Amino acid sequence: MPTLEALNNHYATDSITFQTGKGGLSKCSISHPSATAELYLNGGHLTHFQPRGHRPVLWMSSESNFEAGKPIRGGIPICWPWFGQADQEDRPQHGFARNRTWTVTQSEETSDHVTLELSLESNDETKLIWPHSFELTLRFKIGKQLSIELETKNTSKDSFKVGTAIHTYFNVANASEIELSGLDQVNYIDQLENNVCKQQQGKITINKEIDRVYVDSGHQVSIVDRAMNRVLKVTKSGSQSTVVWNPWISKATRMADFPDDGYKTMVCVETANAFSDVREIAPGDNHLIMQTICVE
Ligand code: BG6
Repeated sequence: MPTLEALNNHYATDSITFQTGKGGLSKCSISHPSATAELYLNGGHLTHFQPRGHRPVLWMSSESNFEAGKPIRGGIPICWPWFGQADQEDRPQHGFARNRTWTVTQSEETSDHVTLELSLESNDETKLIWPHSFELTLRFKIGKQLSIELETKNTSKDSFKVGTAIHTYFNVANASEIELSGLDQVNYIDQLENNVCKQQQGKITINKEIDRVYVDSGHQVSIVDRAMNRVLKVTKSGSQSTVVWNPWISKATRMADFPDDGYKTMVCVETANAFSDVREIAPGDNHLIMQTICVE
């Protein structure tokens, strides 16, 4: 793990600096004319994104852990190489990428955005959890819009399957007043009802716990937040599944790293490769999943 001095020597720009963040973890702070942002190397985890003139786009838990090896609650966790699976004891829920320290490999800035590239490679520790060789590259383009690209390269001799979620927590004024559009008539797996398949009718509104995986959905999803006077548009590629999650009251109280009333001001809309959308990658091949967030 390079020192902050080494990171600043190699990758600092006018808008990018590396600092000690919460819990003593290393973070990258971005203050650019177009936006501010904050990225923890633990998990390759964006904890803040705010285009100038707008309110913060990402919800962050006031009770989050900031500890090496533990996931951060809020912002944008990177779930990989599987989605969910908390039921399998030997497999950490949502994979291990969100628990590991990523390496900075590139930074750049122009007059309208900043780019940062991080990487994570297999090693003896990851192979104990998942026995494959891989190279992951995570690219952030931070400006008026935010784009995140995750590239998986299979460096093994055999094919493997990966599940992914760019597990974005959006900051909303009042979850019970927002509307999510773009998924009308799309089938979804209801994770709260034994994974039964249902079909969305109209817009999604939230007035209780929701935990759904929309399948065959390469669509744009809009989060219409009238109280904040804004629409958050989520577009994507390399993903045919979209997860919509809000823990609501009782699950929020059961999660130690989530404030009891946190469910009121967040919703997760996740760009995923989940369930039948997991991707098989042949040796030497890549898979690219990308999410763009635009504030209007
Ligand atoms: C969502 C899942 O993607 O993530 C939910 O669909 C889960 O079932 C949620 O509760 C949070 O997961 P975790 O592991 O971060 O608590």
